[in-house]
Amino acid sequence: MKVIAIDGPAGSGKSTVARALAERLGLEYLDTGAMYRSVTFAALRRGVDPAEAEAVGRLAERVELTVGPDGVVVDGVDATIEIRGPEVSRAVSIVAANPAVRAEMVRRQRAWVAERGGGVLEGRDIGTVVFPDAELKVYLTADPEVRAQRRSKEVTDLDYETVAADLARRDALDQGRETSPLTEAPDAFVLDTTGLSVEEILDAIEARLRADA
Ligand code: DC
Repeated sequence: MKVIAIDGPAGSGKSTVARALAERLGLEYLDTGAMYRSVTFAALRRGVDPAEAEAVGRLAERVELTVGPDGVVVDGVDATIEIRGPEVSRAVSIVAANPAVRAEMVRRQRAWVAERGGGVLEGRDIGTVVFPDAELKVYLTADPEVRAQRRSKEVTDLDYETVAADLARRDALDQGRETSPLTEAPDAFVLDTTGLSVEEILDAIEARLRADA
């Protein structure tokens, strides 16, 4: 099974890199952040308080999720745009800190890989928890200002200051939570993407893959 794990904080370039790398390697790509966002979306839509750990945990087990190249469908509703919106972004950290939600998402991520025989997965805990035996674990970083700039280009309806503040807040929550905090696997290939183009990042990862083979 060929699994490539790509972890790192928001705005480190994970999504762009994971998608392009999957294409180069002929593998499928899974955005696990979109899964936590989808559970958050489902809770908000049903009027469940994201902080209600038990209720959200139960919801995570039942929710029907499709996260793929054509978008995100949550219980039959197209949520592709809304999962990136400010309401979901504000509430997602508390949902992602919920151990019951994490257990269910990890189970689904492993099933996704088992069905395909491999893949490129991006998230926060892929190399540390979900696939500690991945063929390659990449940990992407970048200067906080660069990450905030990248994010604010994606989120065009919010100003830079708001995006930067939300990013810093989420970094602190993701790194400080008790269950599966964001951290580098000891054997991860750590790459600082500040000032690197996507091509340069992909070349560096491919060189590392070849060196490990
Ligand atoms: O990558 P993103 O910004 O779409 O992720 C959304 C949130 O989900 C983020 O606050 C961290 C969390 N997350 C996580 O805890 N574990 C993952 N494997 C992926 C995302």
